[in-house]
Amino acid sequence: MVKKIVKNKKLENGTEDPKRIYLDNAATTALSPKVFEAMKPYLQNLCGNASSMHSEGMQAKQALEEARARIAQKINANPTRLFFTSGGTESNNWALKGFALANKDRGNHIIVSSIEHDSVLEPAAWLAKQGFKVSYLKVDSNGFVDLQDLQNQIVEKTLLVSVIHANNEIGTIQDIEKIAAICHSRNVFFHTDACQSFMKCRIDVEKQGIDMLTINGHKIYGPKGIGALYVKQGIKIVPLLHGGGHELGLRSGTENVPSIAGFAEATEIITEKDVERMQKLRDYMIDRISNEIRETILNGPVNNRLCNNVNIIFKRIEGESILLRLNALGIAVSTGSACSSHSLKPSHVLLAIGVKPELAHGSIRFSLGIETTKEDIDYTVDCVKKVVADLREMTPIREGEL
Ligand SMILES: Cc1ncc(COP(=O)(O)O)c(C=O)c1O
Repeated sequence: MVKKIVKNKKLENGTEDPKRIYLDNAATTALSPKVFEAMKPYLQNLCGNASSMHSEGMQAKQALEEARARIAQKINANPTRLFFTSGGTESNNWALKGFALANKDRGNHIIVSSIEHDSVLEPAAWLAKQGFKVSYLKVDSNGFVDLQDLQNQIVEKTLLVSVIHANNEIGTIQDIEKIAAICHSRNVFFHTDACQSFMKCRIDVEKQGIDMLTINGHKIYGPKGIGALYVKQGIKIVPLLHGGGHELGLRSGTENVPSIAGFAEATEIITEKDVERMQKLRDYMIDRISNEIRETILNGPVNNRLCNNVNIIFKRIEGESILLRLNALGIAVSTGSACSSHSLKPSHVLLAIGVKPELAHGSIRFSLGIETTKEDIDYTVDCVKKVVADLREMTPIREGEL
């Protein structure tokens, strides 16, 4: 029997609200109460449009620029080069399409890694349809980009390389400084999608040689639907959205001041201590699962791994079955990445690191948050043990067959 240690919360009407254990923080995080407080004034009284010239407008403009400066400071960027967008998807689309279209007189070749988020892979595929040439970088069995492959794939017509900083499915943290240095030595620009690593890993656009950087709010306890693209001074990029000329004419649309204020506040939520604590819990969880459950494989590296990512293959079981049973036990996890969890295709990330399709279907991603406790992990692992044992009872595939 699995003992549920987590205390239920008494609701006002006397019923109990069973506490859920939320281990899908890579998909999104809960809005922090502090962030909510920071947003409230701009949702209620301070309603001005940042482009208006009256006092309300000036207040909104001030909030906008303060937020820009706070966020830029976290990545050591010039604030005037940080542009607000509707999130990671828009920033990645803009970085690829906006850059390629602005620089097509110089070349026609884009390189992306084979383990990018769909919001990089899809614009790359779109560019290919418009006549650009797209190449995909190989990764090793832990998801690290093959630097020799990068050297080999860069040609005279290469404009841009885009490599995800920390992978959303398997947690691999790339050596972006090295990747950027290779790009620059060949006169190629470098973009990185840092949606998963922002505020969990050190980011310094100057020191690391990052030309464009994607970040968003909802992975760091901020609101959904807000993000930013950093574009280094001097880089040519065309807008995707045309209109009133906001954001230096590069991203039109009335600025979402409440969400932008919340995004800035959210950069104060995850502390270095949180990162260390999550790292320890992550390793504890990996150790327990690896030692206590047979036929499991850890996806992604042991070192240089995102502090909150645990991704495991449970052989001979479908990940969806595990997910649904855990959900019924009060635990939220994910199979692969949230964005592709409604697809029956095996994860492109797992296939890229060499996992066989029949094994890729048995993977579960647990992503920890700042509120995750050891008790949560113990309860989860106990439940996983039971669920896996039950499901394996039912499968016709015998141990050792896969
Ligand atoms: C690595 C990565 N890039 C991009 C995105 C997309 O961000 P958004 O949901 O803000 O559009 C996500 C989140 O799903 C992500 O994990």
